[in-house]
Amino acid sequence: MKYKIALLPGDGIGPEVTDAAVKVLQFVAEKIGLDLSYSYHLMGGCSYDANETPLTDATLSACYDSDAVFLGAVGGIKWETLPHHLKPEAALLKLRKSLGLFSNIRPAKVYNALLDASSLRPEVLSGTDLVIFRELTGGIYFGEPRGYDENKGWNTLVYTTEEVERIARKAFEVARQRRGMVTSVDKANVLESSQFWRKVVHQIHKEEFSDIKLNDMYVDNAAMQLVRNPKQFDVILTQNLFGDILSDVAAMITGSLGMLPSASLGEKYALYEPVHGSAPDIAGQNKANPLASIASIGLMFSYSFNLPEIGLAIEKAIEKTLGKNFRTADIYSDGMTLISTTIMRDEVLKSLEEIFEEKNSAVAV
Ligand code: IPM
Ligand code: MG
Repeated sequence: MKYKIALLPGDGIGPEVTDAAVKVLQFVAEKIGLDLSYSYHLMGGCSYDANETPLTDATLSACYDSDAVFLGAVGGIKWETLPHHLKPEAALLKLRKSLGLFSNIRPAKVYNALLDASSLRPEVLSGTDLVIFRELTGGIYFGEPRGYDENKGWNTLVYTTEEVERIARKAFEVARQRRGMVTSVDKANVLESSQFWRKVVHQIHKEEFSDIKLNDMYVDNAAMQLVRNPKQFDVILTQNLFGDILSDVAAMITGSLGMLPSASLGEKYALYEPVHGSAPDIAGQNKANPLASIASIGLMFSYSFNLPEIGLAIEKAIEKTLGKNFRTADIYSDGMTLISTTIMRDEVLKSLEEIFEEKNSAVAV
């Protein structure tokens, strides 16, 4: 089986973290004899500079022609004043919508080695292992009508039965392989669209997933509970905008936005990207944390190549590297060894090599 990967490094630190991701992908593919082909494409501000559009048809068709897409990051100050439809962020939304990536998975796992890197107390964080299922192609991000004039601005929040059902199913299915709990986050005390969301989620739960423990939580409370006691969560299921906000909160539980990977899946296509943005302030300085990108490659192995054991090995390699006290600036604390993006990449590769060696010798015995 040969897999085609479309690589979209994008803007800011995107190319640096993509380099780390690709090195890990290549290394593992060679180890296990997985046949991969890559192609690089412009997207975001760099595409606007070259082609006057942040997403060309050529890039889009390369994604349609791929088995998996990897995206570094898009955006930057340089393009902030462009009209809405030419902004790098608009390209990302168009890509998600065009590929039908309705299910956005953002795992937030606290590594013991990083307990001191968070602004929250270690005893609050220790043992946290949650995953956010964010609906990604609907809700207020895409609802019509939308716009603004001199006196007002407006957006529309709509969810259909089908849209809620399909993301709810994904969340329940994954909860079944985890600790069997789903927290559905909404604002049903104020919004009709949330009352509808809640009704559909409960219907699916009753009909297909009654073995899963389901509870509802208002989004303001969920934000508070995430920093108060994150251990209470297993799977969080929520709409597009709430998921955007809550996943940044969850990122800080892990110590840094630089740690959070993501997978966006549809019926046919898959996109993997670190949750952090393009961080223009540190771009090109070899300072960025590549771990979210590397962890996103782990998700690619689990979800696109159906090799969860490799996904786990990559996660272990990250843990092992952190255990050796290597830190990029964003997760640095006293007594640790401060290293660059490329050294972190190479250290993870070394840890991966060690993990593969351990596995081989275990098999030989
Ligand atoms: C994210 C980002 C995007 C979003 C932006 C860049 C459009 O914040 O992936 O969380 O809002 O979805
Ligand atoms: Mg966001």
